[in-house]
Amino acid sequence: MSTNTTDNSRKVTTRRLIEMKSRGEKIAMLTAYDYSSARILDEAGIDVLLVGDSASNVMAGNLTTLPITLDQMIYHAKSVMKATRRALVVVDLPFGTYQGNSKEALASAIRIMKESHAEAVKMEGGSEIRESIERILCAGIPVMGHLGLTPQSINKFGTYSVRAREEEEALKLIDDAKMLEEIGCFAIVLEKIPAALAEQVAKEVTIPIIGIGAGGGVDGQVLVMHDMLGINQGFSPRFLRRYADLASIMHEAVQSYVGDVKSSSFPSEAESY
Ligand code: KIV
Repeated sequence: MSTNTTDNSRKVTTRRLIEMKSRGEKIAMLTAYDYSSARILDEAGIDVLLVGDSASNVMAGNLTTLPITLDQMIYHAKSVMKATRRALVVVDLPFGTYQGNSKEALASAIRIMKESHAEAVKMEGGSEIRESIERILCAGIPVMGHLGLTPQSINKFGTYSVRAREEEEALKLIDDAKMLEEIGCFAIVLEKIPAALAEQVAKEVTIPIIGIGAGGGVDGQVLVMHDMLGINQGFSPRFLRRYADLASIMHEAVQSYVGDVKSSSFPSEAESY
């Protein structure tokens, strides 16, 4: 039987992601928050769909990821799960639902798994949240780590600029990545850190490293769907490659529609009953 993960019929699992790393096959991950988009992304062969708390920014229009609630994340995750056949679906634990204590963290993760039927959770942070991650892993819930720029801590950092440029922070990041591997996380997102550091981490751990603004020396890439499709136009960091300009396409289409309605050329007889 073929082990090619681009085979659209084979379900992606956490175990398959680790196999992909071991044979050097890159992992493609994108965010999704709704049924219709998730269906398109899944059918196009994406390996991992992240129901990211970036929904707070691109869906709800908030300045940060902090306001989104557990109920809202579950709503998005349920919609994505209904559309997804092949991709692994990972859901962000939102700010304030796991930092307090490990029992609260487990209760939050269980709600996501029970109510949305998603397959894994993602959590931002290293040694500070070790106990919470361990408790969730003990319950049989797969955890994806997230290190480097962790947007839920924006009020501590004060800026969204590149992290771990200094040795002390880089060494902590390496230690945290090794710890996350050791306790049983199945993958780690590294956000906005120097490419050489990300590549070093990817070489030193056996679990997949998925980068965003972390260069090409890692095991896979993740982007926010609204950014890479050009729906969200106000955000253009250096790491972002735009694959489409959907905002312009939508703008023109809506202008045409408005014009057709105003001129009474829509609907035509063929479009009427
Ligand atoms: O919420 C999100 O979209 C994320 C990605 C940037 C990795 O965490």
